Amino acid sequence: MIKNKPVIGIIPTYNLVNEDNDPYQDRASFVRMYEEKIYECGGIPIGLLHQNVEDYLPLCDGYVWPGGSKIWPDFFPVLEDAIKHKKPVLGVCLGLQAIGSVFNLKEEKEKHPEKSFEEIKQLLKDTDHYLKKLEDPSFHSHYVTKEIATQDAARHVIQLKKETLFYKIMRQDELNVVSLHSFILPYVAKDVVVSAISEDNVIEAIEYTKDGAQILGVQYHPELENTSELFDWLVDACYHKTMFLVNKQNPIPKDYESRIMMYHSEYPRCGEESNLSECAMDSWIRLRDFMRSKGFYIDVESAYRSSEMQREIYENSKNTYGEEHANIFVARPGYSEHETGLAIDICMKLDDKWINEFDEGLNDCYKLLHRVCADYGFILRYPEGKEDITGYHYEPWHLRYLGSLRISRDIMTRKLTLEEYYQEK
Ligand code: DAL
Ligand code: ZN
Repeated sequence: MIKNKPVIGIIPTYNLVNEDNDPYQDRASFVRMYEEKIYECGGIPIGLLHQNVEDYLPLCDGYVWPGGSKIWPDFFPVLEDAIKHKKPVLGVCLGLQAIGSVFNLKEEKEKHPEKSFEEIKQLLKDTDHYLKKLEDPSFHSHYVTKEIATQDAARHVIQLKKETLFYKIMRQDELNVVSLHSFILPYVAKDVVVSAISEDNVIEAIEYTKDGAQILGVQYHPELENTSELFDWLVDACYHKTMFLVNKQNPIPKDYESRIMMYHSEYPRCGEESNLSECAMDSWIRLRDFMRSKGFYIDVESAYRSSEMQREIYENSKNTYGEEHANIFVARPGYSEHETGLAIDICMKLDDKWINEFDEGLNDCYKLLHRVCADYGFILRYPEGKEDITGYHYEPWHLRYLGSLRISRDIMTRKLTLEEYYQEK
């Protein structure tokens, strides 16, 4: 992430025009529409090059695999990286065919471990199981320019399958899409799901979501549409390390990993408890400084807590105020957002004194904080009036970092809880 914006690596299209053996014709190109869509949706696009691609995949939070005329195996490591680190991938046109082919080749290789990938590819080609040329491409293959009329002439309807990632993103049974291809993916491997088809039974969308993977390919061209659902999804899906629900029913995910970084709070009683997840640090500092510039000298009262620390806080609350009180103010160990390093309880210095929680001196600070926190990727996690949903008393001081500004703004504008947000998904 750069300034908390996800970095999206775009796979290039290689120019094959090299008639005169001209080295300057031997080049990679990037279609501007992808770059623009990603930027508009809050990501930072960067171009990938095929040489030693593994070396710089760690720079990327997600990928676009666009169209072109040839599948380049040099980019297969992109999918491995995406699966391993749950990075989202959006394949478009040949990108869908490339993603599908990687899974098909892998499946076939398991059956014939002695064969090389080239031999496997040949085997699939010989049996008409690699990419297939459409016998009558008139329905799917068109010449499209920037003129809308040419794009509309290239549209056809596709049917989406319910219960798929693609359906969850688009929320439509049918789409009328722009299509420009003469090859198709003939089948999908085990664990790859076909999430849309056209009326002549062409595979129009595929996805692989096993073990938290987020790989989606579409045969049509979403970059030509005015709306950006798939690019919004791609950028938001890069926040999978911060976007999850922790509450009384949902413990910290077993595979949750985060680097906890040292943060020095000026709040006198705060030691290790001021540390934060690396993901939230930059946004917190920017939010803190903004609040200070408006006259509210805030800092961390409590952020990261180890499980032991959380247990101690819970037991102390129970012993002092009773179990009922403890249960509506303090989470049990294993069930507190504080254990992720993504939650921050704020406090404020007023006339040289530190104040916190329901101190009236914080009222104006809370008003502004709740208005602006979403612009830094935070939400008010336990709002007033939603106690039945969150299971906790109103906590105006407790912020939760989500990362995506689109999601945090949506939640704060509609006054939702994270529980309600996930219920809608
Ligand atoms: N105060 C919140 C609920 C926690 O202990 O995580
Ligand atoms: Zn808290």
